[in-house]
Amino acid sequence: MENLQNKKIIVGISGGIAAYKAPLLIRELVKRGAKVKVAATDNALKFVTLLTLQTLSNNNVYNDMFGSYQSVTTEHISLAQWADCIIVAPATADIIGKYANGIADEALSTLLTAFDKKVFMAPAMNTAMYCNFAVQQNMKTLQSHGVEIIDAQYGELACGQDGKGRMADIEDIVARIENYFSFTQDFAGKTVTVTAGPTREKIDSVRFISNNSSGKMGIAVAGEFVARGAVVNLVLGPVQQKVQAQDRLNVIDVVTAEQMYEKTVECFAHSDIAVCAAAVADYTTDKVFEGKMKKKDSNLTLQLVPTKDILATLGQRKKDSQLLIGFALETDNELGNAKGKLAKKNADLIILNSLKDAGAGFEVDTNKVTFVDKYGNTEPMCLKAKREVARDIVNKIKEFL
Ligand code: CTP
Repeated sequence: MENLQNKKIIVGISGGIAAYKAPLLIRELVKRGAKVKVAATDNALKFVTLLTLQTLSNNNVYNDMFGSYQSVTTEHISLAQWADCIIVAPATADIIGKYANGIADEALSTLLTAFDKKVFMAPAMNTAMYCNFAVQQNMKTLQSHGVEIIDAQYGELACGQDGKGRMADIEDIVARIENYFSFTQDFAGKTVTVTAGPTREKIDSVRFISNNSSGKMGIAVAGEFVARGAVVNLVLGPVQQKVQAQDRLNVIDVVTAEQMYEKTVECFAHSDIAVCAAAVADYTTDKVFEGKMKKKDSNLTLQLVPTKDILATLGQRKKDSQLLIGFALETDNELGNAKGKLAKKNADLIILNSLKDAGAGFEVDTNKVTFVDKYGNTEPMCLKAKREVARDIVNKIKEFL
């Protein structure tokens, strides 16, 4: 029964009649060993009392951003850091709309905006509201960013009508949360090396050759492995996103393809798994001009020389006990090229991105991938948030173990 032992869960409650069921949800989560805190909107507290929520969660309720709950007024940040996930139940059209559009004007919406881990939402509202185009669009937006919408059910609604809009049963909500955490620690004892981001090849003291890779996909894969118990070496090219080292996550910052090669090869020697998600420059300059190259009237020719292929090198050195995963970013003959890379680089799995797919590739928060494995299987996945794609990738890797 205690399969949510020590999981830190925030129950967010917004102002709908289904708020009366929120205490039951809190009780079920606590029963399963979770540590629960509650964030409730003013309207939620018209349906369910503060005292009930405090008593069942055994914690203060976060309701007033500038209130006396704590001595500091950045409670939304410390709560966001504390929790492993947030479940908003019930989620009204209002909180769904605010969260989907980055509006943070009271305690719960501010907390959600400051939160970057898993969010579940269990909508509950009148059928017409539920089917409203804006509400539907907002839910789609949230889903594309990895928010798990626990779909409302058909049934008798508080307004007296029958229709879709009844909040999912408490046991279904709890099951979804348990399912999310059930993967936890399945990579404990494994060491994983992940490459991510672009590399930069210097031309002179101020100029370089690089690409648009944001590193988000590789960073998400590294995060998923860490969350599931692995020790991860993230060999990271220059990216905007700050990634802080944490327990079981070593961040190895590199700039050039050569540096990424050196560090990755070194880490792979004592890894069980390597995922090469970096967009490594295929060519580098044969020499770096000292100082800033001056503009001339004539054409400029740069001599470029090939870099070392990290994935292919790991493929040559791979032992039977090691797994090697690469990416393939393609614009044409996608499947053929991915299969070619799988064989040529001796990988176990290639994750294919086609730039023809809307929402896939560099600089976006979503991705659409196809798994191409060494057993000849190809498995196309649908468009998802990169965080969700990372989860699919790690689940796929688990099948190989
Ligand atoms: N890769 C690598 N080292 C390189 C080049 C690529 O490790 N020097 C890895 C990438 O991280 C990715 C895979 O190889 O996992 C395929 O990268 P991709 O850029 O799609 O293909 P290339 O092998 O560079 O071939 P091409 O650019 O011709 O498609």
